[in-house]
Amino acid sequence: MTTAIYPGSFDPVTCGHLDIIRRAAGVFDKLIIGVLKNQSKKGFFTTEERVAMIDEVTRELKNVEVVSFDGLLVDYCEAKDVKVIVRGIRAVSDFEYELTMAQTNKQLNGKVETLFFATSAEYSFISSSSIREIASFGGDISRFVPDIVRCRVEEKMKHRNES
Ligand code: PNS
Repeated sequence: MTTAIYPGSFDPVTCGHLDIIRRAAGVFDKLIIGVLKNQSKKGFFTTEERVAMIDEVTRELKNVEVVSFDGLLVDYCEAKDVKVIVRGIRAVSDFEYELTMAQTNKQLNGKVETLFFATSAEYSFISSSSIREIASFGGDISRFVPDIVRCRVEEKMKHRNES
């Protein structure tokens, strides 16, 4: 049984992430979505909110589990017997960062492999940060994120603008 982890910030999860999740869930026996608890950086959504949104949008995928983790990713992999790290590559601009991260993780734990999925062309320009920016100016994000996520982003923006 091969368990893989798809780690990330997911602030918030996008249609591009969901595309990778669905495809990776079809390849591995079990896929863990690992949301980084980033203590040093305050996110738009809390870790708990991000986990809850991913839980909702992956409900139909029975071999997917959503967790949060802190510390080194490879330590989490070791503790949970995860053999593969999944990452998506949208464009050449992602490559340097992803290669460095994969090589760093390999140095830290040689037993864990990183496998890259090429993002589907229709999602190659989507990022969580651009979603937040579009929404902050009142733009329409409905084509880029699942509907549940669109509602949560819009609610949060509204509360921010009111306070
Ligand atoms: O979605 P992101 O922000 O590009 O994801 C980055 C993430 C969470 C995969 C990466 O920052 C990570 O694995 N952090 C945990 C700490 C760690 O293991 N660092 C060493 C690898 S560079």
